[in-house]
Amino acid sequence: MKIARFSRVGFILAAAGSAVGLGNIWKFPYIAGEYGGGAFVLVYLLTVLLIGFSIMIAEMLIGYLGRKDTVTSFEELAPSHKEKWKFAGFQGLAGLFIMIFYSVVIGWIFNYIVTSITSLPATVKEAETTFSAMLHTDALTQIFYHTTAFIWITYVLTKGIKGGIEKMNFFLMPALMLILGGMFLYATTLDTFSQAVTFMFAPDWSKINSNAFVVAVGHAFFTLSLGMGAIMTYSASMEKDSSLVKNAFWVVFLDTTIAIVAGLMLFTFLYEYGSGPAQGPGLVFISLPAAFYELGTLGNLFAVMFFVALAFAGLTSSVSLVEPMVQYFIDRFGWSRLKASIAMGTFFWFFGLFAIFSNIDGYKEFLTWGGKSFFDWVDYVTAAIMLPLGGLVMAVFVGFVMEKERVETLMRPQLKWAFDAWYFSLRYITPVAMFIVILSLLGIL
Ligand code: PFF
Repeated sequence: MKIARFSRVGFILAAAGSAVGLGNIWKFPYIAGEYGGGAFVLVYLLTVLLIGFSIMIAEMLIGYLGRKDTVTSFEELAPSHKEKWKFAGFQGLAGLFIMIFYSVVIGWIFNYIVTSITSLPATVKEAETTFSAMLHTDALTQIFYHTTAFIWITYVLTKGIKGGIEKMNFFLMPALMLILGGMFLYATTLDTFSQAVTFMFAPDWSKINSNAFVVAVGHAFFTLSLGMGAIMTYSASMEKDSSLVKNAFWVVFLDTTIAIVAGLMLFTFLYEYGSGPAQGPGLVFISLPAAFYELGTLGNLFAVMFFVALAFAGLTSSVSLVEPMVQYFIDRFGWSRLKASIAMGTFFWFFGLFAIFSNIDGYKEFLTWGGKSFFDWVDYVTAAIMLPLGGLVMAVFVGFVMEKERVETLMRPQLKWAFDAWYFSLRYITPVAMFIVILSLLGIL
């Protein structure tokens, strides 16, 4: 059987497409805003460098050597206790769970693309009312766009690694970079740009507490797509003799650059026309449209372009969130790609309906437990528990379980003197950091 492989650039674009998502453009700016900017950004950058980069290489390594779905890769690479280690591969399930709310958010973005063509809210208050009306009362619109996202994502998955995933990333990633790059350049011409730079890079240590630290570490994981088998599954289709270190570098570099560019651009617009950076999760759906309103027709254009870029970022991440389980059913159960893609798509579409109704008045009472809606629960369980746990398991697996000789043979020539530092990070720094994150997100620390 001929195995489809990514081209070299195709792999980097697809893995970067996975990493660059709603996390970069929607979440990063608002959490950076909430935690006061500079110091938080610095902690996040350090985490990306010290932990994210190591885990990225480790995850690529498991996929590259395993060459199969996540479950089979762990099973094959474990020198003993294969039966037990295969369960580590079920981290792929996290992606499918994330899709339950991720697809709904992409639906909101589609809706905002369409409405921004003709109208933008004149004030933040008006923007708030519009967003809240969609979220709490308009199930039909949300279902319509959530279904649109489901069809798009499932269709791409049915087309496979080359004709679907690689091709989509080949078009959408450069388009996304062009749009954000263009808007960023415009932002640099505004007076408030320097204010945004100061906010993002001048550290105010008084704003940093242990909570900010945990959020920064958790976000570094989420934004790099680590801990749930997405990068691992893509790496199974990496070209032979690829440099994992170079690939990992490019993915980390693109992901971080795009987050910072998006943050600077958004903060500049919010300083110039809106109400400053600390806006919470409503930042792109509430404060930003109101800020664009001040620009007149150009504002409509900017809003549409921005939401298109956001949709592209979300869609390229989505396929990577579902692909691990698609691959699992293909490899382990002999399903056709068509069947596996439709089955997985239907799963997140169906539970996505519950995520929608868990915010709708009159229904949300039945879908809320312990003060969290179903939507929030899925977000919490995946981000707080599953991703860090996946990271922990991977670090331990490569650091302690796999034969060191095997790891070293492949990685020392690529990492050279840095090999020992990388190995040390996997064995000691990363597991401890992950453990602290999990405990504190569970409220134990
Ligand atoms: N990295 C994506 C983002 O920043 O939005 C989200 C994500 C994709 C997380 C794929 C995990 C994953 F495996």
